[in-house]
Amino acid sequence: MYKKRTIIVSNRLPIRIERKDNELQFIPSEGGLATGLGSVYKSDENIWIGWPGIIPLNTQEEEIITQGLAEHNLIPVFLTEEELKGYYEGFSNEVLWPVFHYRPSYAVYRTPDWEMYQQVNAKFSQVVDQQNVQEKDEVWIHDYQLMLLPQLVRKSYPTIAIGFFQHIPFPNDEVFRSIPWRNELLNGLLGADLIGFHTFNDTQHFLNSCAHILGLNVQNNCLHTDGRSIFTEVYPMGIDFDKFSQLANSEPIQTRAHSIKDYYKDQKIILSIDRLDYSKGIIERLLAYENLLVKYPELKGQVVLYMIVVPSRDHVAQYKQLLDEIDRTVGHINAVFGNNEWTPIAYFYNSFPLEELSALYVSADICLITSLRDGMNLVCKEYIASKENTDGVLILSELAGAAKELTQAIHINPNATDQVTEAIYKALKMPVAEQRMRLNDSIEIVKKFNVRHWVRLFFSRLREIKLFQQNEM
Ligand code: UDP
Ligand code: G6P
Repeated sequence: MYKKRTIIVSNRLPIRIERKDNELQFIPSEGGLATGLGSVYKSDENIWIGWPGIIPLNTQEEEIITQGLAEHNLIPVFLTEEELKGYYEGFSNEVLWPVFHYRPSYAVYRTPDWEMYQQVNAKFSQVVDQQNVQEKDEVWIHDYQLMLLPQLVRKSYPTIAIGFFQHIPFPNDEVFRSIPWRNELLNGLLGADLIGFHTFNDTQHFLNSCAHILGLNVQNNCLHTDGRSIFTEVYPMGIDFDKFSQLANSEPIQTRAHSIKDYYKDQKIILSIDRLDYSKGIIERLLAYENLLVKYPELKGQVVLYMIVVPSRDHVAQYKQLLDEIDRTVGHINAVFGNNEWTPIAYFYNSFPLEELSALYVSADICLITSLRDGMNLVCKEYIASKENTDGVLILSELAGAAKELTQAIHINPNATDQVTEAIYKALKMPVAEQRMRLNDSIEIVKKFNVRHWVRLFFSRLREIKLFQQNEM
């Protein structure tokens, strides 16, 4: 009997390939999605389709990459420089990303980028078609880079189960409306049977867009089009709790955490970790920290902002400008407030291995998340999972999806500088018993609603919806 397969599709594969000294390196991703879906794509005949992160030099190298990835059940979609520029940098990162994060003024609408977005989504669909897909198989498509793909796959396989998950926010319909190609994007998503978002607001914004822009009839969370019922639901993504908690409790990480603590022995560590992105509120965080040092000068020498910014999308103009602004602001704060013995901000523009992140989570007294918009934010969950045996306080932007779940964090509006400053002060002074009580509550949530739970829930609902659709016919 045919055993049905699961086909995962996302822009990036969970292994990225880099060329170093003419050697190809296969680097597994530590990301939440890669871990969560690990048990799915690594088993049976299941596969994951996506971009391997490299442009091969020639067909021979393409073949080597394809073979190497096949050993991990991964299928590459190779993209040319032109495709990456138009589809990834252009349309995904200069239209969808800013508009979906409520920065429509950052959007650059270029018709050739839209054409390239269509072309690359079609390319992904051709790669799906090449996989000998059967109607019983299930396809799970991820994120804004592939919004047209559900409908393209639907055309080839009219009754197959298709899920789509959006990892970033979905803006309200008035903001979404500003995209010239909004109808095509919505229709692209409607090829799916189940469309998942992190928060209730995201689902409502999407449903309102379908109603107000496409004129579709929406009943609760269900849409009817092309003779199919399509469901839109909330699935807040979790993390691999066990991985972070075990790592945090392991001897090497404890040793490293002690040495970080020793290095900053008289200072409380305020940790922030993000990709370089204007959605993360990095400048707003720096201003609130500066304000803290002005308002509470007695804290000089007693705190450090340990700020990791991971390089990201640095070919996109807004990201380059942001990097310059961060450099200037950090330089200014360190120059004005620092002295021979103390540097207020330890700033790193680099990515760090998981073990180092874990040691930082363990040693940090405060984790400060100031996103101006964030689909979920996994860093805050990773911090919580690392805190079973050490104290600490999470300060979390109310504009990150995670705020809906982590109600015991100190919530802030990152635009309210004084409020963020006061939140940091409160966290610095918070009694240990209160820290523990808040952490324990959050740990329960992050532990229970972990990434495996998220994957299970999504698939079981997708299967239920297929049965429902069959009974409708
Ligand atoms: N991360 C990483 N290397 C680093 C810093 C962070 O792999 O040097 C990971 C971090 O552990 C987290 C992810 O990057 O899992 C960031 O996810 P988040 O949802 O917070 O933000 P995103 O980058 O997806 O917007
Ligand atoms: C967010 C998006 C992902 C994306 C990641 C890194 O988490 O939801 O789809 O892969 O950022 O961004 P990048 O542009 O480097 O893939």
